[in-house]
Amino acid sequence: DLSPAAARTAPPVQVIAHRGSSHALPEHTLAAYRRALEEGADAVECDVRVTADGRLVCVHDRRIGRVSDGRGTVSAMTLAQLEAHDFGAWKTGVPSRDPELREVLRLESLLELVADCGRPVDLAIETKHPVRFRGRVESELLRMLDRFGIGGAHGAGAPGAAAQADGPGGDRPRARIMSFSSLALARVAAAAPQYPRVFLFERMLPLQGRLRPGAALPGGARIAGPGIDLVRAKPRLVTRLRELGHEVHVWTVDEPDDVELCLELGVSAIITNRPAEVLAQLGR
Ligand code: G3P
Ligand code: CA
Repeated sequence: DLSPAAARTAPPVQVIAHRGSSHALPEHTLAAYRRALEEGADAVECDVRVTADGRLVCVHDRRIGRVSDGRGTVSAMTLAQLEAHDFGAWKTGVPSRDPELREVLRLESLLELVADCGRPVDLAIETKHPVRFRGRVESELLRMLDRFGIGGAHGAGAPGAAAQADGPGGDRPRARIMSFSSLALARVAAAAPQYPRVFLFERMLPLQGRLRPGAALPGGARIAGPGIDLVRAKPRLVTRLRELGHEVHVWTVDEPDDVELCLELGVSAIITNRPAEVLAQLGR
């Protein structure tokens, strides 16, 4: 039901901190995620890659040069080699004394932070380079979520929805898995269908033939994840996706006008580098 009356009673839009509170602090550092949780983000987004010794770390780019004082490719470096570098100084301009600003972020550290934050917070985890690593990132990720007892997230919905669904004491984090790759999402669907999947895209092409009733999104995803540039250019696309029963989670939404557009279109989640500002705009 997309009527204005339904919109008024719809669950509030979920605010997802993209790479942590990454406008304020260096992306993908524990400090940036701690800040996002303090600011009240409903969920956190992170990118995961696998190191040469099989550890999962949260780094966006294939190489570490942009976000650290080192050089090299994540997948060719061991965790120890990555830990030798400062992942905060590129943004703060000074060497990082605080380990939470300095250290490459191990996924398990992020899961611990979220699990211990005292309220239900969703995890929106994006796997990078699924083809090259033949599903290793996805299989390691699923193993780790299992080890932490983290189940599937309810897409978006009211803050606290996870707790309600879990019953008393249900403040465990829940995860959804995101990718630009239908192959990665199909692998997750086969191995662990309980995790909702978000298909990320920034052009119309991957949706060709999918905007009709009954058609699944690539990778069997239930949630569509368009970039904000595409949403600005084609707002009707969001309406259509919602008519077809998909949730829509938009990235990366940092401008007030774009937040407003997302609200008008009834998206379920806003993925932003500026969670505090977006929450303030939403009156939360
Ligand atoms: O949340 C989705 C968004 O993060 C996708 O783009 O390049 O920031 O990983 P990217
Ligand atoms: Ca991402």
